[in-house]
Amino acid sequence: MRRITIAAMGAVLALGLAACSGSGAGGDDSTEAAAADPADLTVGVAMPTQTSERWIADGDAVEKGLTEAGYKVDLQFAGDDIPTQQQQIDQMITKGADLLIIASIDGTALATQLQAAADANIPVIAYDRLIRDSENVDFYVTFDNYNVGVQQATALLVGLGLLNADGSAGDATGPFNIELFAGSLDDNNAHFFYKGAMDTLQEYIDAGTLVVKSGQTDIEQVATLRWLQETAQKRMEDLLTSAYSDGSKVQGVLSPYDGLSRGIITALQNAGYGPTIADGMPIVTGQDAEIASVKLINDDVQSSTIFKDTRKLAEQAVVSAQSFLAGEEPEANDTETYDNGVKVVPSYLLESDIVYKDNIQSLLIDSGYWTEDQVASGQA
Ligand code: BGC
Repeated sequence: MRRITIAAMGAVLALGLAACSGSGAGGDDSTEAAAADPADLTVGVAMPTQTSERWIADGDAVEKGLTEAGYKVDLQFAGDDIPTQQQQIDQMITKGADLLIIASIDGTALATQLQAAADANIPVIAYDRLIRDSENVDFYVTFDNYNVGVQQATALLVGLGLLNADGSAGDATGPFNIELFAGSLDDNNAHFFYKGAMDTLQEYIDAGTLVVKSGQTDIEQVATLRWLQETAQKRMEDLLTSAYSDGSKVQGVLSPYDGLSRGIITALQNAGYGPTIADGMPIVTGQDAEIASVKLINDDVQSSTIFKDTRKLAEQAVVSAQSFLAGEEPEANDTETYDNGVKVVPSYLLESDIVYKDNIQSLLIDSGYWTEDQVASGQA
């Protein structure tokens, strides 16, 4: 914290600004007195990609929150290219960033950058995705990722009629043919999502109520490098020609992200399924409440998604950043779950919700996340 302490000296003016920033995690006068003038501090924000709208929303919301709190912000997107993200973080450090907020592409590829940050006393907050294999991750803000997987599997079971939305047993008995998809293996979250989902589905698979006809159930077999829609579409096409050429139908697909869900749905539609669930489109899950998928849910094509309110995550990142920049430790609500291979990273976990057609209004429109027009058009 050397640079912060130096910056704090003579930062009498900061008192007013820090007090006005409102959302600070600290509070008492001694804390405020230790804080530097936010206007003298720069936060580097490294986001993975702009190909998925959630990361654009995350980047914008973090930038807005930090700017409102008075900080300078250096926001970069890396086009899902690992060397680009490494360079961007190197540059943030060289240019004198006072704190880094990083949503990694490959969670194992940033150890060198994080060492440089530690050498320069720059705190690092891992954003949504855990950064692995490094001592130098100071904090982690994310959702309860295991529970996201449980929710995805639950939504699949509800869509198939095996469960009711309140968790009680549904009327359907199966057996149902399903296929499984996971995210990118270099993203720690992909493992948590899949574990949560499989822990929930396994008893139905063991009972023969759910049948994974392809036999592909290991995460290595079902993973999707870089979370690419085209890759999921191609794998679904391959599954249909290999495991379903006998005329049998797939009835459910566990998909961990809306982009993959849309690729999967395209493959299914091209093979003659649907277009809607009532016409035989399988139950397809998702994640992120991307607007194109919310429209598909509203149109009875995709069955569900998981809503993770990026506004709340961004706010949590900003509050945690303010704590570090005031020379304090941010408040964690989980100090056990996220072992990054070197240490357990203190974390702040947020909750997520399952979205079905009948709660789009209450979860997404009433909360101002999307408007009714956006849901109708499928455009942000
Ligand atoms: C995030 C998900 C997102 C996925 C693909 C994961 O790390 O937690 O919200 O769907 O990356 O971008």
